[in-house]
Amino acid sequence: MQAQRSLALLSLFAFSFLAWHSQIDTCNALSVREATIQDLQNAFQQNQLTSRQLVEFYLNEIKRLNPILKGVIEVNPDALYLADKADQEKKAKQPGSLSWLHGIPILLKDNISTKDKLNTTGGSLALLGSVVPRDAGVVTKLRKAGAIILGKASLSEWANFRSLTAPSGWSARGGQGKNPYVLSADPCGSSSGSAISVASNMVAVSLGTETDGSIICPSGFNGVVGIKPTVGLTGRGGVIPISPRQDTVGPICRTVSDAVTVLDAIVGFDYNDAQATRIASKYIPYGGYTQFLKLYSFCYSFSIDHQTVLIQNTTTTFLNFRQHGAILVDNLEIANINTILNSTLSGEATALLAEFKISLNSYLKELTASPVRSLAEVIAFNQKFSDVEMIKEFGQEIFLASEATNGIGTAEKKATWNLENLTRSGFEKLMIQNKLHALVTAGAGVAPVLAIGGFPGITVPAAYDSKGVPIGICFGGLRGSEPKLIEIAYGFEQATKSRKPPTFLP
Ligand SMILES: *[C@@H]1O[C@H](CO)[C@@H](O)[C@H](O)[C@H]1NC(C)=O
Ligand SMILES: *[C@@H]1O[C@H](CO)[C@@H](O)[C@H](O)[C@H]1NC(C)=O
Ligand SMILES: *[C@@H]1O[C@H](CO)[C@@H](O)[C@H](O)[C@H]1NC(C)=O
Ligand SMILES: *[C@@H]1O[C@H](CO)[C@@H](O)[C@H](O)[C@H]1NC(C)=O
Ligand SMILES: *[C@@H]1O[C@H](CO)[C@@H](O)[C@H](O)[C@H]1NC(C)=O
Repeated sequence: MQAQRSLALLSLFAFSFLAWHSQIDTCNALSVREATIQDLQNAFQQNQLTSRQLVEFYLNEIKRLNPILKGVIEVNPDALYLADKADQEKKAKQPGSLSWLHGIPILLKDNISTKDKLNTTGGSLALLGSVVPRDAGVVTKLRKAGAIILGKASLSEWANFRSLTAPSGWSARGGQGKNPYVLSADPCGSSSGSAISVASNMVAVSLGTETDGSIICPSGFNGVVGIKPTVGLTGRGGVIPISPRQDTVGPICRTVSDAVTVLDAIVGFDYNDAQATRIASKYIPYGGYTQFLKLYSFCYSFSIDHQTVLIQNTTTTFLNFRQHGAILVDNLEIANINTILNSTLSGEATALLAEFKISLNSYLKELTASPVRSLAEVIAFNQKFSDVEMIKEFGQEIFLASEATNGIGTAEKKATWNLENLTRSGFEKLMIQNKLHALVTAGAGVAPVLAIGGFPGITVPAAYDSKGVPIGICFGGLRGSEPKLIEIAYGFEQATKSRKPPTFLP
């Protein structure tokens, strides 16, 4: 029954795909599939494309692909109006005087607030109808840069923080997000919709968020580039929180240069996340991050850490790093790596459970209007609407454990202290003692190492497994090391050119 239904969906999908191709041919429209921001800006300047045409293209793609992929929760009803406005601004301004993101459509993970017609719900029905007080800090910056908010991306509901058994990419509002490469494969989470949507060309660029793996993992599984910035580099004001210690907002795009262009637009001071963004602003280089998109710089020290490399054969599978001038330091070990990778042992779980309750309650209280005002009310909502929310199937045991916490007490202090010690004596010590620029790992297994220390990471498409599911390679570094990581990631991307658009295998 289930199988038959998905088969029917697939053939419908194949048909509309063909229909679309012939339509494009007859209209002789510029194909914007796989176009980079630079391609789009060039097309704008040469009058081959308007933002309205671009938005229309993506709206059609969403209509065509999203019923199956479910990467988008909501489309902005004002997207065409915003596109017309951008086109008018282009005519009025000198060419070259506008930002790189001007007139470019962007999709935001559904836990990033927008003060417009779009809902901000973290994928949950409990937050439907809530009214946010203002745009998130990163959204204010995007609007200032002239980007067009195209809509909200789907996600693992409550960023996988409700239940241990809910599948990645599933939310009550968005349904089950699908990996566009292999529809039956894991899309990973929690920023699944952002990765699915850019991978399948339903939008130009997107934002995701990460507490532990939520940008790195879905970017890898969906064959796109994800940047998890140093915590505080991008503001979290107006983002549905889990933990101020670990949460970060970052771009998910098809190329390193697109991701860096978006990063440039969103970094910096956020009035509603003042302390963290002020501290991290010292890392922002004068002139921004695009200056590090340089090719010569692939000659760097890497550590291929066999403790965290999930695919042992990294060098042969992906690229002979040494051939490209990298100095590899092999067989290094992060102290206590097995403790770091187990959130119960490291203290990460203890800390997150308490931090989530405090930060979510404060987010909900600040809303202008909301059906729920506390974690306790969200839990009660889920119990009341258990059929709709699939609560019976997926439960809400993480919520219940979080609700049972009582602020930051002795256990929580000990846990965060332990995390700091693990970071200092682990990743930091390894990187400094061996004078390393980056830690290279296949997949997202390294996520907890980066998460508990607030460290940055960049994932780049690297390979495909035997079924055709993409595998990302992740470059991680110390806080503020984005410039180096960007150089390395860009060098790797240009040397391998591994990304292929998805073919929607069953
Ligand atoms: C936001 O949610 C409401 C239901 O509360 C719905 O009517 C509306 O269409 C949603 N907005 C968008 C832009 O989808
Ligand atoms: C929302 O964003 C934060 C980052 O600020 C992320 O860590 C978290 O997982 C997301 N939360 C939800 C509920 O989606
Ligand atoms: C590495 O990969 C090659 C080719 O895929 C394979 O033959 C070999 O067994 C692998 N080695 C290890 C140690 O996994
Ligand atoms: C993590 O550690 C806990 C406590 O020692 C243990 O019960 C659990 O099995 C470990 N989890 C994994 C995945 O190893
Ligand atoms: C901090 O971590 C190091 C390395 O594992 C360990 O030797 C030391 O005992 C820890 N310090 C404390 C006070 O727990």
